Amino acid sequence: MRVDPYVIEAGSGPALVLLHAFPLNASMWSAQREALAATHRVLCPDQRGFGGTQLLHDDPSLDEVADDVAAMLDARKVGDVVLGGLSMGGYVAMAFLRRHPDRVRALILADTRAGADTPEAAANRLRIADAVIEAGSSSLLVEEMLPKLLGATTRERQPLVQGRVKALVERAPAYAVAWAQRAMAARPDSFGTLRSFDRPALVVVGEEDELSPPADAHAMAEALVHATLVTIPESGHLTSVEAPEAFNEAVAAFLATLP
Ligand code: MLT
Repeated sequence: MRVDPYVIEAGSGPALVLLHAFPLNASMWSAQREALAATHRVLCPDQRGFGGTQLLHDDPSLDEVADDVAAMLDARKVGDVVLGGLSMGGYVAMAFLRRHPDRVRALILADTRAGADTPEAAANRLRIADAVIEAGSSSLLVEEMLPKLLGATTRERQPLVQGRVKALVERAPAYAVAWAQRAMAARPDSFGTLRSFDRPALVVVGEEDELSPPADAHAMAEALVHATLVTIPESGHLTSVEAPEAFNEAVAAFLATLP
């Protein structure tokens, strides 16, 4: 069944869709909405189960999430878009690209990777999915994930950013976390999808990203036909939150090159 995602919107002009990371929600894009709404209609949906969006009972799959985004755009009579995603949002962007290629004018992939999970990584996701359901809370993610979500520089110098991200992780609903983990574990390799995309693409990575390290960004940029790669210094995995000025500058410069 299609879910009608809760969307935070700002601005007007060509549509820019930004898909959030796991286990956060669309509020992570507040700095981008503020900066990029001057030139674009910025649409930030909450993924199934997160923020203000219902989960429903479909089998876990990022294809469902990609189709939710397409239906959300249909409902607003938006045709093609600049599609951006960070980490899990990037996986969803690649699923969208596979399923709705004509709707992507340009692509922004931040702190994500095109490869499928190794069997060990997929098994770890299923373990976490079971554990959060059993505990009835996502608080175990604070211990397991929070240190890796943020770069060493942010952990040392930006306590407010750390507090904000911790609060988002703690509040992520357990059922949404479990569903998303199972969906991510099942996602396919997307290198072929990237190779067949011949429109402009921006790849962004934090130089201190431990979850999707710069080597993953280089591999995506090599697979894409027209890619620009930007590495953001002193930032970890959540570049748009840890280094919003540098992130926005990279995105604004990229958007300015689009026809
Ligand atoms: C994210 O930030 O969305 C996650 O690190 C994605 C993942 O678990 O692979």
